[in-house]
Amino acid sequence: MVAEPALPSTFIAELTDIVGERDVITDSDLRSSYELDWTGRFRGATPAIVRPADTAQVAAIVALCRRDGVAIVAQGGNTGLVAGGVPMAGELIVSLRRIDTLGEVDLSARQITVGAGATLAAVRSAADAAGLAYAVDLGARDSATIGGNIATNAGGLNLIRYGGTREQLVGIEAVLGTGQTISHLGGLIKDNTGYHLPSLLCGSEGTLGIVTAARLRLVTRHDHRVTALLAFADARTAVESVRDLRTRLDALESAEIVLDAGVRLVCEAFQLRLPFADPHPAYVLIEVADSHDPTDEVAAAVDAQSAMLDAAVATDDAQRTLFWRYREDHTLALNTLGKPHKLDVTLPLDRLAEFIDTVPTVVRGVAPHAQTWLFGHVGDGNIHVNISGVDADDETGDDAVLGYVASLGGSISAEHGIGTAKKRWLHLCRSSAEIDSMRAIKRALDPDNILNPNVLFP
Ligand code: FAD
Ligand code: MLT
Ligand code: ZN
Repeated sequence: MVAEPALPSTFIAELTDIVGERDVITDSDLRSSYELDWTGRFRGATPAIVRPADTAQVAAIVALCRRDGVAIVAQGGNTGLVAGGVPMAGELIVSLRRIDTLGEVDLSARQITVGAGATLAAVRSAADAAGLAYAVDLGARDSATIGGNIATNAGGLNLIRYGGTREQLVGIEAVLGTGQTISHLGGLIKDNTGYHLPSLLCGSEGTLGIVTAARLRLVTRHDHRVTALLAFADARTAVESVRDLRTRLDALESAEIVLDAGVRLVCEAFQLRLPFADPHPAYVLIEVADSHDPTDEVAAAVDAQSAMLDAAVATDDAQRTLFWRYREDHTLALNTLGKPHKLDVTLPLDRLAEFIDTVPTVVRGVAPHAQTWLFGHVGDGNIHVNISGVDADDETGDDAVLGYVASLGGSISAEHGIGTAKKRWLHLCRSSAEIDSMRAIKRALDPDNILNPNVLFP
């Protein structure tokens, strides 16, 4: 929590000149939801939220902020989980949600140009309506924006098949911290003309530029889907089985792990029935999508899993939705326990089972009353470690987990980014030469250090 920040009334008047009175929000009640992160753990404070309608307005806001040295936090859907999109140091919020245009789908190029404020769900629907698909999907799809997805290089549920957001990004438009606007939305897929700025901005967490639009690749829409829930005696057999399933099923789109305690929590929180008559320690949800019915391939691949204890295949949409709720509703269910510490990490696949087995003990060793919850994108080696039962600002468990991850050769951030929440641990994964290089890029593109200055760097 920071002290109530303020900006001179003349500055607010100049913002109003750019976007209009309705889109400069200073009222404290209206500011509140923009100031608090999705978990409720991180509350910042802002003097105002400004809501530009187009790229020119974003450029005018950045020019004004450069002139007066006013720090900015770019915000999309505010579903980020590392306190990168909330004003933890009193920054002005630039909300991109109004810039939500959806261009025509280019069927021959299989691409679409969208505004940064378009939600992921809206982009997925636009692709679907044109007979194609947008490859990235995640639980916060209805609120998360494409600009936020790009800024965080969001991963999500289909990464094993299509890659993450960076792999979908063909072109970008952004206002840099220099005040310059770059716009490269032509959609050429072969374009080796120097540094690939879309890739650089992707994952930069709003520290280099404010993304205003993107050109995205679309993929084949597969209308036949098989979703199955497989039960295992432990994490090791679950992880090994996923490795095997990947070799058998080319059309495997998702492979997600959940554990017994988490499934019970979800079922209690949302009054769902348990997946099997008898509980099992670990479950893997798989989804296979193809242009023909893949039921037979899935059945053969599942039958080959000798360590599997039980399996259920969704026979209709309601059951498929239920299977996905066991997995996706973890995030909501954990919020009912208080303000979770969310640690989103990747492990090398051959250390993943050991990590899942050991990390609760690592947490208990430093925080005896804490409970550790584990779920995630097992096919990517990406596990979400959530710690409940500790104070919001007690980071002893976080420190122990991230140190353990680094000791196994993992990454302290798989897909959520560093934000402000994890910046003190950046050195665990990045050498000082790498951090110096990133700082040099930051200085070049944001010389006045006004774009998310509180994010990423320790
Ligand atoms: P915000 O939260 O508003 O911002 C996130 C970061 O991006 C901040 O640093 C912000 O400053 C910056 N930013 C936002 N917009 C812009 C812009 N236009 N230009 C420059 N910088 C910008 N993430 C995953 O990767 N995979 C998942 O599976 C996943 N599942 C989730 C499920 C739930 C229920 C929730 C709540 C979150 C989940 N997330 C997941 C995290 C989150 O949804 C993603 O990080 C998402 O990409 C954030 O988008 P947003 O629009 O909400 O961004
Ligand atoms: C997920 O995969 O569900 C998300 O990344 C959100 C979370 O970690 O809670
Ligand atoms: Zn995730």
